Amino acid sequence: MAVNNSDINNKKIIDGRLIASEIELSISKKIHELKNKGVVPSLEVILAGDDPASVVYVRNKKHAAERCGILSKIDFLDESVAEKEILNKIEELNNDPLIHGILVQLPLPVHINEKNVMEAISPAKDVDGLHPLNVGKIFTGNSPFYPCTPCGIIKMLDYYDISVKGKNCVIIGQSNIVGKPLSIMLINRLATVSSLNVFTKDIKSIASKADILVSATGKAALIDESYVKEGAVVIDVGIANIGGKICGDVNFERVIDKVSKITPVPGGVGPLTVAVLMENTVKAADLNGCRAKT
Ligand code: GUN
Repeated sequence: MAVNNSDINNKKIIDGRLIASEIELSISKKIHELKNKGVVPSLEVILAGDDPASVVYVRNKKHAAERCGILSKIDFLDESVAEKEILNKIEELNNDPLIHGILVQLPLPVHINEKNVMEAISPAKDVDGLHPLNVGKIFTGNSPFYPCTPCGIIKMLDYYDISVKGKNCVIIGQSNIVGKPLSIMLINRLATVSSLNVFTKDIKSIASKADILVSATGKAALIDESYVKEGAVVIDVGIANIGGKICGDVNFERVIDKVSKITPVPGGVGPLTVAVLMENTVKAADLNGCRAKT
């Protein structure tokens, strides 16, 4: 039977929803075991303000928790909330033995100091992996909780047996949530990593030499075929709402013929971020839950 281009291209698409559902299935056994010991994993999410994208993300997290049998609650705080109020809420959750995971959705309103907020979360409940103590442990590869999106990207690569060892990995975007931790995680796996930012000269010439290209800029359709090497793996972390349509950083139609693997938007990295959060919450409950019960 003739194999046409669309069959070939379909095989290139990394199915984030499938991998996420497998992760959810794999943690369900652990959740069952914990429940038998009287520990119900629970996650509390704090959202300050009503940024539409953040509202969607936190609701996705709550739905995933419901699917998995994890208790979850979202604290919707006003955009004008005082930093002290957020810190007090975190303190209350740190001291609540029935709460295993705490996540403060980013970005925070501009008057709130993100660093103070991240430092306030108990490292043992830091299921987002953004407390400085846990971030530091990424260097040595022994953090209890890896940030969800970079961890999800590594899981995707592993799922498709894509080794990064000796590969030229280029990451566009240096955020604390994605670009920086992912760089270190790839270095720990013996990749050669280039970390690019808006001031990088000639992003295109660097990107087009990547074996694995990760784009995390939020700039819709920034990456076309001129940024992509033939046979590259392309991971699109960007999400932008363009006239009601969800777009990634990558112009999918223009690069699909060139890549060996690519993540779609939606349905690529996003579901993995949520699945890793669930996995981290179960881990937090496992590590601390029994102590929490007494
Ligand atoms: N905003 C977008 N992604 C994330 C994430 O993984 N964690 C937090 N806390 N905020 C986010």
